[in-house]
Amino acid sequence: AGFRRQRHPGFELWVDSPEESTAAFAQSVVRGLGDHPRWLHCRYLYDARGSELFERITEQPEYYLTRTETALLARHAREIRAGVGAPTLVELGSGLTSVKTRHLLDAWADEPARYVPVDVSLEALAASCAALAREYPGLSIRGLAASYERALPLLRELSPLLLVFLGSTIGNFNPEELGDFLERVSAALAVGDHFLLGMDLVKDVRTLEAAYNDRAGVTAEFTRNLFARMNRELGTRLDLDAIEHVAHYNDRLDRIEIFARFMREAVIELRDLGRRFRIAPGEMIMTEISRKFRADEMAATVARYGLETVRTFTDPTKAFALLLLRKRGRSALAEGRQRSAWTHLATARARTLELIEPLDDADLVRQVSPLLSPVVWDLGHVANFEEQWSIRALDPAVPADFVRDRIYDPITNPRPTRKHLPLGNRAACLAYLHEVRQRARQRLAQLDLDASDPLLADGYIYKLIAQHEAQHSETILQAVQLMEGLVYEPARRREPPAAVVPVDPESAVIP
Ligand SMILES: C[S@@+](CC[C@H](N)C(=O)[O-])C[C@H]1O[C@@H](n2cnc3c(N)ncnc32)[C@H](O)[C@@H]1O
Repeated sequence: AGFRRQRHPGFELWVDSPEESTAAFAQSVVRGLGDHPRWLHCRYLYDARGSELFERITEQPEYYLTRTETALLARHAREIRAGVGAPTLVELGSGLTSVKTRHLLDAWADEPARYVPVDVSLEALAASCAALAREYPGLSIRGLAASYERALPLLRELSPLLLVFLGSTIGNFNPEELGDFLERVSAALAVGDHFLLGMDLVKDVRTLEAAYNDRAGVTAEFTRNLFARMNRELGTRLDLDAIEHVAHYNDRLDRIEIFARFMREAVIELRDLGRRFRIAPGEMIMTEISRKFRADEMAATVARYGLETVRTFTDPTKAFALLLLRKRGRSALAEGRQRSAWTHLATARARTLELIEPLDDADLVRQVSPLLSPVVWDLGHVANFEEQWSIRALDPAVPADFVRDRIYDPITNPRPTRKHLPLGNRAACLAYLHEVRQRARQRLAQLDLDASDPLLADGYIYKLIAQHEAQHSETILQAVQLMEGLVYEPARRREPPAAVVPVDPESAVIP
């Protein structure tokens, strides 16, 4: 829905509604400039001029990424073809389809194949489809002028396929966007489809910073073009000569950060939206990030989205890597592991709730001994531990809950001090336990417990969480035993298990 189909000699284009994209550009600019610190979304770097400039960046001597990835594809394209087998190639962010893609298409040339490039830059897409139609007359070409999000749901009907995402474009996503992207990719692929992912690897700062500060100034021109585009499409009146390109490596976050620095005060006015932003002299607006990766970490990350690594190709200097991934099916074994993980969690929780059921609110908040916590602390800590391990450890994009992390940190808060913490009452603690459990369950449903990730393999993390809760059930039980004046009536009484051998109640034999 929302796509216009255009027929051209030798290829077809599906174009997402363009009016929407100018409005979306303006809204995105307002969102980014209204934020602190300010940013602009990198996808808008790529209009027709931006795509041309990017192509020139890839030719700069400092920009080792394209050269290295091209060499990897020249070397391994046939091997990839042999391993994949599917007749359809879908390329995300194809741009002005380069030599790299041609290596893949050459490997596919021996039988009728289909190529589906996807890019937001309509001009670049149309130009490369036209060029490829001339060069590969037997190739069926359908370009999708759309964002990844809009294009990915269309992939299902193209399976079996190889999805390709080159140029380390994946480095433009922050961790939250990366998780969202991988979720969409995983949902778009059918079991057995492949995904070829190109990524730039962590390396020395000089090489990295040189690549984004080429001597010819093309990358600087590329950054400035974003503001030229705003002048062209959104009617702003920015003096481009007063905008400087700044790119440096942030080694804490393993990423190149690119900014536009305003040398003089500037006003960015979006008349149609009635918004005006005053940019201070020296202020920097972030226009792009380019994250750098470690191949094994990426393999562990994608495994959480049901993508297994079939092959990793790297160059001799380990500058760049291509991961060949495959969407895996849920084996009966994986289904069983998921059920078993849930049973571990549910059993431990049933025990905790049963234990506290006979206690009234006053029992739950009092501290019976400096050696034990108020029961509400144990409950909140159980929820917090579960949240940290079953949600945040698996998805770094989920924000931390600093307040609760501090309250339920056993090291920061030794037992005698816990009664002074703002712990909340029974209802608040139960609500916290319940809310975390629901989120953990949603996550678990999406996971692949066959994955090589040690946290997930064989449901490790869920067993850990269940054992942790069982341990706290024991300390709650100790507190219950020390509650003076309490007549503890268990919520349910169970008969002890029947003896396996007949027992004489009068005597015991000690061998
Ligand atoms: C870094 S360039 C890579 C180009 C080419 N694949 C290469 O490896 O040299 C990123 C490409 O992705 C496109 N792009 C950026 N954001 C996009 C989005 N959200 N949806 C679709 N395409 C996007 C850009 O237009 C550009 O062509």
